Amino acid sequence: MRNLMVELADRRYPIAIGQHLFDDHALMTRHIASRQVMIVTNEVVAPLYLAKVSAHYEDRQLEVIILPDGEAFKTMDSAMTVFDRLLQQKFSRTAHLIALGGGVIGDLAGFAAACYQRGIPFVQMPTTLLSQVDSSVGGKTAVNHPLGKNMMGAFYQPKAVIADMTTLSTLNDRELAAGLAEVIKYGLIRDLEFFEWLEAHMEALVARDPEALATAVERSCQNKAMVVALDERETGERATLNLGHTFGHALETGLGYGAVLHGEAVAIGTLLAADLSSRLGYLEVADIDRIRRLLIRANLPTTVPEGLSPEEFLEHMAVDKKNVEGQLRLILLKRIGEAHLPMSVERGLIKQTLVSAIALHRPQGSL
Ligand code: NAD
Ligand code: GLY
Repeated sequence: MRNLMVELADRRYPIAIGQHLFDDHALMTRHIASRQVMIVTNEVVAPLYLAKVSAHYEDRQLEVIILPDGEAFKTMDSAMTVFDRLLQQKFSRTAHLIALGGGVIGDLAGFAAACYQRGIPFVQMPTTLLSQVDSSVGGKTAVNHPLGKNMMGAFYQPKAVIADMTTLSTLNDRELAAGLAEVIKYGLIRDLEFFEWLEAHMEALVARDPEALATAVERSCQNKAMVVALDERETGERATLNLGHTFGHALETGLGYGAVLHGEAVAIGTLLAADLSSRLGYLEVADIDRIRRLLIRANLPTTVPEGLSPEEFLEHMAVDKKNVEGQLRLILLKRIGEAHLPMSVERGLIKQTLVSAIALHRPQGSL
């Protein structure tokens, strides 16, 4: 087992990363101090891992919520389902909540934990690569609004993160690739050595080599834990974790939640951010190609899907938490391994990036 800490003074918490952690009774009960326990999961994860996890809490008052699967269910309605049950069962402020699943479940259950009676303890048990390397760490919790992703939420840290990497064996290849998009992000924004390691080990990661995957999860969590410890509430460096996300969130909202996976949207958004960085004179064109090659080797999409005009795309980008008073602010790359803090960028320039990316859909010679 590899152990890391997110250093947040009196709210510091451990991240346990390893194989078969869901079988470790001491670990699975160490951070669940209450007699009242609720597990929030979904209809895909429940048949795979619920029995194993719930076995540790058989001596407690255990409630289980099994939500429908998918980004389209990261909603206020789903949060209400959790609140309803907590109240029906008279769960008190000392009750503990467990988020068992990917980033959708983690964000939603975390949001419910942050709100219920103004906050109850919760533990993240992430089961996708994306959630193990990113969403389970750092305390960003949220639900979506039809007009904007993650628009209602709270910064609310878990008591612990237990990332059982055995769960990745049931993840399909598309979801594994989606997680790799966020792994590559850490290399791009702050860790050139890791980016080079990823270039050397991408085939091993795609083939699910356990050592390579464990290294990737650990290094990603180290990067994330460092950034969160420096800037928990995103007043500065934490925003760099959003590389590609302003474009990506616009794609997710604009095309309808679930049409592209979050990690896929981030991959496409990362290339758009790289293109814009190059238009502003920061990044060499050769570096854009280097990033594209790595994303392709990770089996990630690198072109903008059809369905949004540049104007519609920009409209969705205007609903982003980094924007200030109508001014679009984006994370751009200075070079591979270093990101700028959020920068105001002219809409006209962003539109050039979008127009040239979307023009790739048109057959040659057509208008
Ligand atoms: P997800 O939660 O939808 O999981 C992906 C799919 O895999 C789902 O169908 C899920 O049911 C299934 N699944 C989960 N575990 C499985 C397993 N072990 N075996 C087989 N199938 C499994 O998506 P995700 O990619 O994990 O997370 C994306 C979400 O995370 C988005 O909503 C995004 O906004 C959010 N996110 C949050 C943060 C944060 O800091 N809070 C960071 C990044 C992303
Ligand atoms: N994934 C962005 C953040 O945690 O800040």
